[in-house]
Amino acid sequence: MKKAILIIMVLLLFCACAEKRTHYVIGVSQCSDDIWREKQNAELRMGAYLQEEHVDLIFAAAYDSDERQVQQIDSLVDAGIDLLIVAPNQVSTISPAIDRAYDKGIPVIVFERKTSSEKYTAFISADNYEMGHVMGEYIASQLHGKGRVVEITGLKGSSPAIERHNGFTDALKNHPGIDIIATLQGDWTEESGYKAMEQWLSKEQIANSQKPVDYVFGQNDRMAVGARRAMQEVTTPLALWRGAGGEAPRFCGIDGLPGKDGGIQLVRDSILEASYIYPTHGDQLIQLATNILNGEPYEKETMMMSALVTHDNASVLLMQNDEIMRQSNYLDQLHNRADNYLEQLVTQHVINWMALVVIVLLLLTILFFYLYHLKKIAIQHERVVNTLWNLKPEDVTPLAAAKEAEAEDPATTSIFITRFKEAVEARLADSDISVEDLAADMNLIRVQLYRKVKAVTGSSPVELLRTARLNRGYQLLLTTDLSISEVAYQVGFTAPSYFTKCFKEEYGMLPGDIRQG
Ligand code: FRU
Repeated sequence: MKKAILIIMVLLLFCACAEKRTHYVIGVSQCSDDIWREKQNAELRMGAYLQEEHVDLIFAAAYDSDERQVQQIDSLVDAGIDLLIVAPNQVSTISPAIDRAYDKGIPVIVFERKTSSEKYTAFISADNYEMGHVMGEYIASQLHGKGRVVEITGLKGSSPAIERHNGFTDALKNHPGIDIIATLQGDWTEESGYKAMEQWLSKEQIANSQKPVDYVFGQNDRMAVGARRAMQEVTTPLALWRGAGGEAPRFCGIDGLPGKDGGIQLVRDSILEASYIYPTHGDQLIQLATNILNGEPYEKETMMMSALVTHDNASVLLMQNDEIMRQSNYLDQLHNRADNYLEQLVTQHVINWMALVVIVLLLLTILFFYLYHLKKIAIQHERVVNTLWNLKPEDVTPLAAAKEAEAEDPATTSIFITRFKEAVEARLADSDISVEDLAADMNLIRVQLYRKVKAVTGSSPVELLRTARLNRGYQLLLTTDLSISEVAYQVGFTAPSYFTKCFKEEYGMLPGDIRQG
């Protein structure tokens, strides 16, 4: 029984293990926390959900602090992540922490911002130099090759800030009529765009309040919006900064996020003149990560496609994005439904297994009791067979030795037993038979028979007669179809109920049990 339960447990365990998916833990170290990162984190989550493997993501946001990001990367490594995805706040400051992770054998994907080290497994980004260059060309074409431009750069030391600046200035070198009158330092936040512009404006106002600005290039949309706010609200009314053609300054940025307050909407609503889509593609990142972890082929360097957003395409892009969002909501609903369905399936699965286990246990219990019952009957049967009728002279001799039969030899005892058996068997069906009758059948008087039988068997003739009746009854129950009452009468009992009572005393079970067995 115990063995059977053990086997079932092992089987259950085996089945549970068979369904287990590969499990990966991926650490995501984000340098900042803003709408661009939020969008990307959501895509990372969705990408992880769609993988065949079970992917757990641990997110950490450094809020533009090198120190915090280094600590967070070290903690992720200590937490035992299988792979690190990292957007380094600045090029060189985060490299030592990335190197430590890489040296511990953890694959590293650097995305969107670069590290100064060679120690990474893969790099994925859009081309920041290219987008700076495109924005330079765009502004030059808008100004027809003549005008005054202000640039607001992202966090000093971060690779997109360096590359976007290089691309922008290189592009404008081809347009000598365009003058970059200021390059202001921001840190990617809207507030930094606002402050940089505010400070510059107050200085410029003191120096030359009539100096016009035609275009402001924010290295991202948020800084461009901040700078615009500063020009509108703070130091000088926007009108004072009208450009050469008497027009108000125009603004452009980078990121081109879809959705509310994203760059595409800002362009459509003419708050910005242009933006450049800086793709987030979290799902692509996760796919790259699982390829690396599964030992499948992957590209070491991936450049993502990107595009300029202007008044000409902003509305279409927004409409397309709305459609994508609609589909994505629809997918979300499907996803929730699938989750519910899966949950139900799992519950059903567990219930099925439990029911199976209960049924198996029940069957095993029934089998166990059946075998136990059979064994009990076999023992009883053996006991019956070993009763008086199987006694051999040598078995009874020691008893006889204690009594008057001690004078007789075993051969005489054997003859006596045989005669007594014959006498009993001949009268078995006779319910009126007395010990006197039995004695008379054997040419003895009652006392002689009693003493002799007692001496040889240790039991009285009446007891033996009863045992013999029950024994015959047992055999009739086993070998015939006679009813219990008929059997009782046949073996000399006047009342079937009394037969049943004696039977129970003798064999520890009811006559009916024999039939069921
Ligand atoms: C998001 C962000 C973007 C910018 C990029 C540069 O955190 O600031 O706005 O384009 O990072 O790495």
